[in-house]
Amino acid sequence: MNELELLEQADTLARAYTGNIYTRRAFPSADAITALKGFDEPLSDEGHPEVETLTMLDQLGSPATVASNGPNYYGFVFGASLPVAAGAERVSLAWDQCASSADTSPAADAIERKAGQWVLDILDLPSESAVAFGTSATACGLSCLAAARAELLARKGWDYLQDGLVGAPEIKVIVSESAHVTIRKALQILGFGWARVLKAPVDAHGRIIPAALPALDDRTILVLQAGEVNTGAFDPFDQIMPLAEAAKAWVHVDGAFGLWARATPELRPLTKAVERADSWTTDGHKWLNTPYDGAMAICKNAHALARVMNSDAAYSHASAAAQKT
Ligand SMILES: Cc1ncc(COP(=O)(O)O)c(C=O)c1O
Repeated sequence: MNELELLEQADTLARAYTGNIYTRRAFPSADAITALKGFDEPLSDEGHPEVETLTMLDQLGSPATVASNGPNYYGFVFGASLPVAAGAERVSLAWDQCASSADTSPAADAIERKAGQWVLDILDLPSESAVAFGTSATACGLSCLAAARAELLARKGWDYLQDGLVGAPEIKVIVSESAHVTIRKALQILGFGWARVLKAPVDAHGRIIPAALPALDDRTILVLQAGEVNTGAFDPFDQIMPLAEAAKAWVHVDGAFGLWARATPELRPLTKAVERADSWTTDGHKWLNTPYDGAMAICKNAHALARVMNSDAAYSHASAAAQKT
């Protein structure tokens, strides 16, 4: 089988899977899960013939998938893939681009820039914001929180990237008592010990109670939520934002699924004043129904995000210059 025939075979299997998605049970049967033992074979030097690998993937793997891409799935807040989004992913898989810059992929660069502008437009967030596409709200939230810390320290005359954290002014972090577990994880990876993170009391729906918010200052990162994962509740941004602005605190909004409420006239009031925050995260693979994995880190101060997250190797400039000649 040549390369094209092999890809056609993969496409046939993928189309058959998608074609069955309406009748597929949401969670696989016990038998299908037991059959996964078929993958448990010794590593061999020869491997399988290519087409056999595809067949095995389909025969053993497909029945044991969770059909979150179908209409019978009501588990987590996962989205499905809209057909056009799944199709676009198929095309981009063929491209196999390293989408890190215009040097490695002019197409990806142009598309990401445009998509970023559209995201700001749809969500009605400040047009000067940077939009970075990442794998998850977890990773994008981590990026925004890293930018927040570096920027708050910079405002105090401390260069976090050069001098690290030893001896740095302490940055206070306040999260909702009902913050998503991935915010906790991101903060812990960044070195904010969970015991030192202040927890803002919430009401029965999981919304921060503004009157009970711990004191804010200009060394505070405050994490709010647009869409609490258990209740769907939104923090009262319109009451909290004036307090944060007066204190010059950095406000980050975890809007993994809920931020898209802004695009819906009936739900938009829930997000009143959210645009006054400093950074936001949201997912494509939830309410927007793009394929996994796709999320956005949005930061009003584009420089703050770029400074913390960019990596600029000398070899990348050299090889970019060479490939253009
Ligand atoms: C409110 C909230 N924040 C963050 C996340 C994490 O999203 P991801 O899986 O894209 O990292 C979720 C996932 O359900 C969520 O509901």
